[in-house]
Amino acid sequence: MANILKAPRGTMDVLPDKIDKWTYIEYTARETANLFGFKEIRFPTFESIDLFRRGVGETTDVVQKEMFTFTHGNSNFALRPEGTASTVRLVLSNGLYNDPMPLKLFYITSCFRGERPQAGRLREFHQFGVELFGTAEPSADAEIILLAKTMFNNLGIKGLRLEINSIGCPNCRKDYQNALREYFTSKQDGLCDTCKSRLGRNPMRILDCKSPECQKIAEAAPKVTDYICDDCRTHFEAVQNQLKNLNVDFIVNTSIVRGLDYYTRTVFEFIDEKRGLTLCGGGRYDGLVSQLGGPELPALGFAMGLERLIMTMDEQGCSYETEQNKTVYFATIGDAASKKAAELALKLRTEGISAEYDLVGRSMKAQMKYANRKGFAFTVAIGDNELNSNTAELKNMQTGETIPVTLDDKIIEAIDNAIVKETMKELEETIEKDKIFNS
Ligand code: HAM
Repeated sequence: MANILKAPRGTMDVLPDKIDKWTYIEYTARETANLFGFKEIRFPTFESIDLFRRGVGETTDVVQKEMFTFTHGNSNFALRPEGTASTVRLVLSNGLYNDPMPLKLFYITSCFRGERPQAGRLREFHQFGVELFGTAEPSADAEIILLAKTMFNNLGIKGLRLEINSIGCPNCRKDYQNALREYFTSKQDGLCDTCKSRLGRNPMRILDCKSPECQKIAEAAPKVTDYICDDCRTHFEAVQNQLKNLNVDFIVNTSIVRGLDYYTRTVFEFIDEKRGLTLCGGGRYDGLVSQLGGPELPALGFAMGLERLIMTMDEQGCSYETEQNKTVYFATIGDAASKKAAELALKLRTEGISAEYDLVGRSMKAQMKYANRKGFAFTVAIGDNELNSNTAELKNMQTGETIPVTLDDKIIEAIDNAIVKETMKELEETIEKDKIFNS
């Protein structure tokens, strides 16, 4: 019997001591996307299996090997393996293609792929994804890449290599597919069974097969860049020029084809040079909207994996700039003090100051130890003496300094002042540190 106390293989719990990392990244993603004029969307966790078969592609690893599928009644569903197909479905179902173009959307969402779990590869993972509809202009490709780069800058992630390529349009793709078919047919004995079945239908997918034997054969396969048409070549050159204008460093890697079928023209990846891990992947998908039954609507986007961002940020010692929001803890003795603490905590919370008090019935000493471990900025101890005099000491837990406060509405102002004083002190310390660092 499966061990019910173990999270399923390839999934992760996020514990309270790590949640600040997630909220910080999600906050930064929202801020960055908003800066570029993107609006957030949400879509269902599962969709019709056919959406992904047609959207992501029948011969991709994601659809052939990795989707979590289930049947309910007469309908077949899949947990979303990625967000692009769902976004296009959302745009079509809700008629958003009638909105003024370009349409700029983003999402922060969980995705599910039944891959073999390893470091940075999970079965449930999370993506920050961005999709831009309604323009075929090369400047849009550069804008999307710039957005991804800005996100990395805002998170303080360094040492990434941007690799770009053009995989052409359906017109030039035909010649390329033929060249690939010819090449792989001559080597077919060495291919895995899945790739043998791909030979007839979509030989390009053999290029991103994860089997080492297929990868070895793929190394010497014809390169897509030798087959792209003049229009696609001009488009790709314009994208590169615009990236140079924007001071975005990149290299052209003619081996990038991406593992999903919908891509056309520009594709790109941001790779962590140290680990060789892809943090972000994206590109154009000019044919997908019409392929799923919508109008001709060029589009492009990217997605980055949040778990991989956290891994990289941890490794690089990036700061999560988390707000210290555990402010006041009331340590109490006796029922009357506990009641008073509940009243005062409510007043403070109403003013936006976080406040907690003992709910476990611990001793004063144990409560103070708890407040210390949990990182409260201030404590107020209340017992009979304090109740009788209606005054107590507000203790700064870092410095040990105390100031007298009254146990009524006036405590709000006193705590507010103490917070401002503490913030000013931190600010001065940061300025001082920067001065030393820059000198
Ligand atoms: P993707 O390359 O399949 O593209 O995934 C994008 C990112 O999601 C990867 O670069 C990686 O950071 C993260 N990722 C993917 N699979 C896993 C996994 N098993 N475990 C952890 N992280 C993972 C897409 O999904 C496209 N929809 C991107 C896109 C948007 N293209 C255009 N618009």
